Amino acid sequence: MRAPTECPAWQGLAKHAESIRGRHLRTLFADEPARGDRMTLEAAGLVLDYSKNRVTDETLDLLVRLASECGLRERITAMFAGEKINVTEKRAVLHVALRAPADERIIVDGRNVVPDVHAVLARMAAFSARIRSGGWLGYTGKPIRNIVNIGLGGSDLGPVMAYEALRHYSPHELSFGFVSNVDGTDFTEVTRGLDAAQTLFIVSSKTFTTLETLTNAHAARSWVVQRLGDERAVSRHFVAVSTNAEAASKFGIDRANLFGFWDWVGGRYSMDSAIGLSTMISIGAEQFQAMLAGFRAMDQHFRSAPFERNLPVLMGLLAVWYNNFFDAQTAAILPYDQYLRKFPAYLQQLTMESNGKHVTRDGARVDCQTAPVYWGDRGTNGQHSFFQLLHQGTRLVPCDFIGFCRSLNPLGGQHDLLMANLFAQTEALAFGRTADEVRAEGTPEWLVPHRVCDGNRPSNTILADRLTPATLGTLVALYEHSVFTQGVIWNIDSFDQWGVELGKALAQRVIPELQSVDEPPLAHDSSTNALIRRYRRRREGA
Ligand code: F6P
Repeated sequence: MRAPTECPAWQGLAKHAESIRGRHLRTLFADEPARGDRMTLEAAGLVLDYSKNRVTDETLDLLVRLASECGLRERITAMFAGEKINVTEKRAVLHVALRAPADERIIVDGRNVVPDVHAVLARMAAFSARIRSGGWLGYTGKPIRNIVNIGLGGSDLGPVMAYEALRHYSPHELSFGFVSNVDGTDFTEVTRGLDAAQTLFIVSSKTFTTLETLTNAHAARSWVVQRLGDERAVSRHFVAVSTNAEAASKFGIDRANLFGFWDWVGGRYSMDSAIGLSTMISIGAEQFQAMLAGFRAMDQHFRSAPFERNLPVLMGLLAVWYNNFFDAQTAAILPYDQYLRKFPAYLQQLTMESNGKHVTRDGARVDCQTAPVYWGDRGTNGQHSFFQLLHQGTRLVPCDFIGFCRSLNPLGGQHDLLMANLFAQTEALAFGRTADEVRAEGTPEWLVPHRVCDGNRPSNTILADRLTPATLGTLVALYEHSVFTQGVIWNIDSFDQWGVELGKALAQRVIPELQSVDEPPLAHDSSTNALIRRYRRRREGA
């Protein structure tokens, strides 16, 4: 497989970028008054306005050619067919199977996995219904009212993001908490004030080996047993979600209380698998199915739409354009919806754990930049903190704005204020304010340079009618496939995460050095040795 940089389209883009760099969005819009309409696409209930990007038709043609030259069509086909495209872990990548209809056949190692998916969904639905109706009783006979998910990474970020995003659809009599950090504060604060007799813990871990999750699960176990006075309480207050049934059962989870999934579901692609159990308890099985339908609608669009009209492909290609041809080092995710406040954090794992790679699929060093740093916050809050840099900083930060036409909580005219700000920000970023415009406002000359906004700062705007479970599914799938598109262009394995291993292994070495009673011999570097010694001297009880 040749490097993307060797593709004729890449070389064409490098040359073409020189001419685009000097063109302003003001000119592009002035030259074509209908640009905004023409560069807007709609699919699966999402509208993408990509007109405020620093692109012309030639740019888009070249980007689409790059996708073809990099084999994107073949790679999409391979993913949907269950081929082992996660080459370093020798695994299929089939989050799309999690939302496949029951009559579809997707074969992995000779087995149709779709019936397995639907069998787990049916068990999740039955269990969720019992919890929601109060039919599942805790050890002392009281119904469960508090659900606490214990997990980390994809086993936390998906559940907590989906809960927050869809809490409008969640019954008020149930409370939901999410424990992820090994810092004891997390568990303590989440469980503060909860009645153990009415609390269910969902231990979510794909591998069931994650140190933080197992530590928190043990803390939860002691918390339950201490309060309810009996080991036998565990089976009424714990369920697990994992691909590792053996480890879950070693922990003491009944097989009947285990919801499984499969190694072909990546952690950061798992919120619609059994990892979404807390989501299903929160919104109910029917709404969960609606969310899956939303995912599926975007899957079908991604699979079938021509690249030039394909939302995730275009978004992925635009991300490559700024990353590799404008040297953009970061990208901002700006949802104008309070319910989506965890969405940027969710996307950080999805984008950066997937595409933060320095070698190609065959192990050669990449010869171009891969994933930018993703960050962001909800609007309008961000406007009053970091937007200054977006408008007048020295870096180019491509932005994704996400908004909804209808509010779930209409309060006076507040939704119009929220959306007015979203539209105004995209306008201000694109067109800025010239020195003459500033002067015309009566600004004294010395202040003029400070008030000028150069503009020409690109953004996508994603609009949907309302934040529903289906919309959320569609939105997440949009980004999943955009990430896939970028990974294909860079020819990296978007589905492994070897970079997280080293830190974990080193921590295993440091733990006994902190815990040993006697001063341990230390063989780290001088900085790490000194930090460990200082910590041992100064820590509580030392
Ligand atoms: O350390 C990174 C990681 O492996 C993520 O990829 C994953 O989502 C997270 O840890 C949690 O893993 P698990 O679900 O196996 O506990």
